[in-house]
Amino acid sequence: MNVVTTVIKSRRSIRKFKNTPVTDEVMRDALECAALAPTARNEQPWLFGTVRDRGMLQKIADLTDHGAFIADAQVCVAVFATKGATYYLEDCSAATTQLILGLWSYGVGSCWVAGDKKAYAEKVRALLGVPDTYTLVSLVPAGYPADIPFVRKKKRDEILFSEEFRSA
Ligand SMILES: Cc1cc2nc3c(=O)[nH]c(=O)nc-3n(C[C@H](O)[C@H](O)[C@H](O)COP(=O)(O)O)c2cc1C
Repeated sequence: MNVVTTVIKSRRSIRKFKNTPVTDEVMRDALECAALAPTARNEQPWLFGTVRDRGMLQKIADLTDHGAFIADAQVCVAVFATKGATYYLEDCSAATTQLILGLWSYGVGSCWVAGDKKAYAEKVRALLGVPDTYTLVSLVPAGYPADIPFVRKKKRDEILFSEEFRSA
């Protein structure tokens, strides 16, 4: 274990937030982590929108089906992909993961809220005034954790194999 693997392994999806503000400096650094994610052909086919306005957070929350807690976040990042980019989902998923881990490295909790494949994706895009050459991939509401839930993870022997797969 080292400091990086400790950050990665300790991350949980956080859906309850304290009122403590998340500084612009933390957001800037976490967004840089996102924007340095690997992408196919180094296309970087993305756009990141940061929302802090409480009224706007509530409107976004109301559009989602499993994201009501966005309304209670200090900040929410909307991750958009350039439409037509071949690997848009892989690229923007890598960025979303790096954003979440960058935030967690400062103790800021967040949760990936689905965007891609959701009927509300277009509504969120329009609400934020983003051109229709982009499509929503994820929403990342964030804030200092008020609760860190336990979730069961699969055991190593369920998910790993070496050299050749052999069924148990
Ligand atoms: C593509 C994707 C979409 C998700 N969408 C939602 C969502 O809409 N609402 C939500 O509360 N959590 C959402 N999550 C978070 C998962 O529920 C969470 O990662 C999972 O339960 C495992 O918990 P953990 O992140 O604490 O390890 C999503 C995660 C991923 C990767």
